Amino acid sequence: MITKDGVSRSQTEFFSENGYLVLPDFIDAQACLQLRDRAMYLAETLCPTPQEATVFTADGTAEHATDNYFLSSGDKIRCFFEKDAFDENGNLRQQAHLCLNKLGHAMHDLDPVFRDFSHSVRLAAVAQSVGLAQELLLQSMYIFKQPRIGGEVACHVDHTYLWTEPQSVVGFWFAIDDATTQNGCMWALPGGHRIPVKTRNRVNESRTVSTMEVLDPTPYPTEGLVPLEAPRGTLIVLNGTLPHRSGPNTSDKPRHAYTIHVIDGTADYPPDNWLQRPSMPMLGFMN
Ligand code: FE2
Repeated sequence: MITKDGVSRSQTEFFSENGYLVLPDFIDAQACLQLRDRAMYLAETLCPTPQEATVFTADGTAEHATDNYFLSSGDKIRCFFEKDAFDENGNLRQQAHLCLNKLGHAMHDLDPVFRDFSHSVRLAAVAQSVGLAQELLLQSMYIFKQPRIGGEVACHVDHTYLWTEPQSVVGFWFAIDDATTQNGCMWALPGGHRIPVKTRNRVNESRTVSTMEVLDPTPYPTEGLVPLEAPRGTLIVLNGTLPHRSGPNTSDKPRHAYTIHVIDGTADYPPDNWLQRPSMPMLGFMN
């Protein structure tokens, strides 16, 4: 039971112990479907040509790391293609908007439907319950994980890419479709948020390339991750230092999800993070 006062004490304790929290039925199905429709509309209307845009890979190859279209998307709504969306001749296999990996990274500020979805007293209460003193919405992503071509996301922690001092990022992940082990649900390592962070992504001064600083070369454990299957409307809250991944979507069912990453306004957000929002201040869940 989630109230305007936040999650229960046992849920807070579970989050603190395990680094994640699964809240089924947090959003009603109608709101999920409305967001889904809006995402498809944005994909269709904003979809660039493949030449203008970026292939987004999160499987460790990081093709987008030197790409201005990606690195300047923090205060915009942009579209990123799946790697497997292209055939051997470099042509899209189907209509462009059905080949997208995701939209990012400021729908929560720039689009009225996403803005409404992303702001509520209930989300503010959850943020407070998991320890954020002054939550600020840093980025949003709508992830399509399309049937057959939806790519995997390799095991990582969000703090690597959204660094604050001290660490503060928390992920809010909404299941817009049912997420299962067949269509690429999230997997997470219970308690893994206590492992010291192994990598830090930084952008250079001219903001033309981001590189990965290795703080600890040993990999995250590959054993022990658990699937977080999530029916439509589920909210999963993730500590920013929790190792998590998702598999490819090899099924014929879509697996849409919406994520918001929130940082604490009391923490420092360094200028060498790839994501900057020069045109917009960050707001809280109730602004
Ligand atoms: Fe992540």
